Amino acid sequence: MSTETKPAYSPGLAGVIAGETEICWVDPNAGLMYRGYDIHEMAEKASFEEVAYLLLHDDLPTIEQRQEFSRAIAAERPLPRQVLEMLRLMPKNTHPMDMLRTGVSMLAPFDPDLNDNSHQANIRKAIRLIAKVSTLIADGYRIQQGENPLPERPDLTLAANLFYKLNGDVPQAWKIRMMDTIFILYADHEFNASTFAARVTASTLADMYAAVTSACGTLKGPLHGGANEESMKMLDDIKTADRAEGWMMDALARKAKIMGFGHRVYKKGDSRVPIMREIGRDLGKRVGKEQWVPICEKLEATMEREKQLCANVDLYAAPVFTMLEFPPELNTPIFAASRIAGWCAHVVEQHDHNRLIRPRSLYTGPAARPYKGVSPNGAK
Ligand SMILES: CC(C)(COP(=O)(O)OP(=O)(O)OC[C@H]1O[C@@H](n2cnc3c(N)ncnc32)[C@H](O)[C@@H]1OP(=O)(O)O)[C@@H](O)C(=O)NCCC(=O)NCCS
Repeated sequence: MSTETKPAYSPGLAGVIAGETEICWVDPNAGLMYRGYDIHEMAEKASFEEVAYLLLHDDLPTIEQRQEFSRAIAAERPLPRQVLEMLRLMPKNTHPMDMLRTGVSMLAPFDPDLNDNSHQANIRKAIRLIAKVSTLIADGYRIQQGENPLPERPDLTLAANLFYKLNGDVPQAWKIRMMDTIFILYADHEFNASTFAARVTASTLADMYAAVTSACGTLKGPLHGGANEESMKMLDDIKTADRAEGWMMDALARKAKIMGFGHRVYKKGDSRVPIMREIGRDLGKRVGKEQWVPICEKLEATMEREKQLCANVDLYAAPVFTMLEFPPELNTPIFAASRIAGWCAHVVEQHDHNRLIRPRSLYTGPAARPYKGVSPNGAK
């Protein structure tokens, strides 16, 4: 008989502090900082490459460091031929997140630093992964469309190159800047589910590719990264702002989960929403699709009134990606193309200060009972 007293526990680890990090702080009162720098300022002034460097290192890069970091990422973009062949072998209806997860896993043995978890080797792997995750998404998508992957453009930033590799056009400067801002918003979010999955895997001293494979699998779920694909299905269904309130009331009456709403940490609003909403408004004007933001705003007001729940960044990211002409199944992979920076930074930090992450569970099964099975030792 167990002598353990019933421990305190928090379903879903809500409110539990599971480790320390210097990388990112999510303030429940609608704030977000990367290593002490406010997301609002970063979104306005920084580049994604600069933010990725910041997450991986202690501080912002100098101009030379940023140039070198960007050059290193650009140089690491091409995929091994065998990985491209594998992408061609996948069934045509494979979800891009499944292609990405499989691709990351397959890249592992091609990395000469795979099993070296030292700080410097992890930084080298992080650069390769930040570069190659975007390539896996773009090349995988083109292969699925029956097209050949396009050659890399090392002169383009990560955001611009992703646009180019998907459809062969280098977009206007304002679009590239917008994409860069979106990447900055998604780059890290402390112990969110996928990052935590990466840290759990890394905490066994498994390599960075194993950790990022876990993270990709976790990001796919609709309660996490998959929400931005699901939100678009919802907005497509609603179609016009005058239908939004009725749609929401119906969904709430059915006790449905509404994608793009609610958050485990933010209870007074998601710090990224005002920035993404503004991007949506600006983009709507530029491309003549101004219907989406008012639908989201009506949904927000109704949800606030009925359940006091706030929108999260995925509600506005969904129409933003649609207006940027990405197909909805790429919404979550694009999130991954940015979050890879955060995942890698957390794996570096985990390996640098490792302790195995291994919580307990509260046993709720039957009490001890005598064995009544039909296979005594030796029975066939
Ligand atoms: C993100 C999410 C998983 C957080 O879950 P959580 O922390 O366990 O949620 P909470 O404990 O704060 O939920 C409180 C209440 O609000 C409800 N709720 C939370 N999010 C909701 C949503 N999106 N739609 C409808 N009801 C929701 C819960 O069911 C719960 O209701 P109850 O008290 O009647 O059971 C959840 O809000 C959700 O599923 N959102 C939709 C998916 C999404 O947008 N994910 C992206 C997150 S960035």
